[in-house]
Amino acid sequence: MKASIAIIGGTGVYDPSMLNDPRDVKVETPYGTVSVKVGSYAGRDIVFMNRHEEGHSVPPHLVNYRANILALKRLGVRQIIATAAVGSLNESMGTNSLVVIDQFLDFTKARPSTFFEGGAAGVIHTDVTHPYCGRIRQAMLEAAKAEQLSAHDGGVYVCTDGPRFETPAEIRMYKLLGGDLVGMTSVPEAVLAREAEMCYATVCMVTNFAAGISPQVLTHMEVLDAMKANIENIKRMTMRTIAM
Ligand code: HPA
Repeated sequence: MKASIAIIGGTGVYDPSMLNDPRDVKVETPYGTVSVKVGSYAGRDIVFMNRHEEGHSVPPHLVNYRANILALKRLGVRQIIATAAVGSLNESMGTNSLVVIDQFLDFTKARPSTFFEGGAAGVIHTDVTHPYCGRIRQAMLEAAKAEQLSAHDGGVYVCTDGPRFETPAEIRMYKLLGGDLVGMTSVPEAVLAREAEMCYATVCMVTNFAAGISPQVLTHMEVLDAMKANIENIKRMTMRTIAM
């Protein structure tokens, strides 16, 4: 089986039912075994990967990013459409906004984040001037328009290790540094996809204003509820992107 496109479903996006005839496939990699669903849509073979696995059981700092990206590569995937739930630092990107991010700030500190660790893999410094693929970003923006959804073109994603949410002081710092959104998964996922020479882009769904901006303390339930309320929009945008 060779599939050219994959969807990596983030928090709240667990349902591969948008694919026709989804079937379970397991892929072995040197980093571990990965389970995905493979089905079809718009005449193409599509891989669906649930980033946090069955029942949201894997927290963001323990996602096996290297195994996931390598598994997709081995399935023949060349383009990846990822979704991510995020908090917002930017008043113009309110709850329920869709943002097709174009940059990140990496504040992770405890994750394996490269395929290139010397030895046979070599020592390679990957260019990340454009960390998210322009072609998929454009298709996502056009898909949003075609679905009459409004999506922000560009945004700076601050990636933290989690799984805790941030302190208000951290959020003030990220804002000063130019961050628009905060989440826990885009790094190293986007970086590994670039290292593997795959075209990768992410649509973010704002589930809350970040700590200290939000009038109340944050809960994971709030994030899940916001995703649930907007899941149809994300699905429509994703599937239209594939069909573009
Ligand atoms: N912080 C980090 N990750 C998140 C948030 C947040 O406020 N909301 C959804 N994912």
